[in-house]
Amino acid sequence: MSFPSVRLRRLRKNAATRAMVRETHLKLENLIYPIFVRPGKSVKNPIKSMPGIYQFSLDRITDEVSESYDAGIRAFLIFGIPKEKDDIGSEAWDDNGLVQQAIRKIKGKYPDIVMIADACFCEYTSHGHCGVLSEKGRLLNDSTLVNLGKEAISYARAGADMIAPSGMIDGMVKAIRGALDEEGFSETTIMSYSAKYASAFYGPFRDAAESAPQFGDRKSYQMDPANSDEALREIALDAEEGADIIMVKPALSYLDIIAKAKANFNLPLAAYNVSGEYSMIKAAGKAGYIDEKAVRDESLLSIKRAGADMIITYFAKEIALEGKIS
Ligand code: PBG
Repeated sequence: MSFPSVRLRRLRKNAATRAMVRETHLKLENLIYPIFVRPGKSVKNPIKSMPGIYQFSLDRITDEVSESYDAGIRAFLIFGIPKEKDDIGSEAWDDNGLVQQAIRKIKGKYPDIVMIADACFCEYTSHGHCGVLSEKGRLLNDSTLVNLGKEAISYARAGADMIAPSGMIDGMVKAIRGALDEEGFSETTIMSYSAKYASAFYGPFRDAAESAPQFGDRKSYQMDPANSDEALREIALDAEEGADIIMVKPALSYLDIIAKAKANFNLPLAAYNVSGEYSMIKAAGKAGYIDEKAVRDESLLSIKRAGADMIITYFAKEIALEGKIS
């Protein structure tokens, strides 16, 4: 009896052949790096649950951007911890808010970068929910939409290239598009967190953004992890309302959703490789249980392979600094 000869393995024969037939590539231009600005002076505050990630005060935020920029990163997603939180999160639309000042500063120095402003209220409200609450503690859709419009305009005025609403408020894209257009910001892009799940993987981020809900959870506005058809309805609504870029979040446990979004919508697709996904790899790497960099690269590649055109990831800067991809 003769053994079958190699067939599919021919294309895996050596590194050059494998490179020739490789279908997916990670590129720096597709990576978006999240940054956190906080009050204070000369602050570079490490986030314990996210090794390598820091909150910066306004006077130091450009250090982080410059280092990433020099390594080749061109897109940043900015989050802010306000000086003061209140019931409705009003610092979010203060033209002198920290995020607004940071955007002005960063865009002033690097006009060619893509500055994306996360538009939500959980960092800004005293209760930690993503908008205005009723007396019974329900998130009020329509009053939150009005405030989202104000927040978006304020970020656009500061120079943000893109607004990324992340609150999963029905109608958020329409409200923001309308508000921006009315103020003459029709070129400001909307990257919508279209299918965002109520995920436990956001835990470390809530340390970073100091945005944990003070009571209850986000399950009445973020999606149930059990659902997939619903994600397509969410994306369809955002597309209809004028989203320029759609997003699935988290990424790694939701590769099926990414693949469906890619197959069903003809729009640029972002995936958010969230804080918990980052921290798990960091922790297991530190413990010596896995090869951290190899697992990182494989994870990011899988997000791209599933269909994401761009990836928001806390790994962006370190990958760029390693200089292995361009
Ligand atoms: C704000 C927001 C969150 C994240 C991005 N924008 C937190 C949340 O919804 O609780 C999570 C990002 C991450 O985990 O890396 N709404």
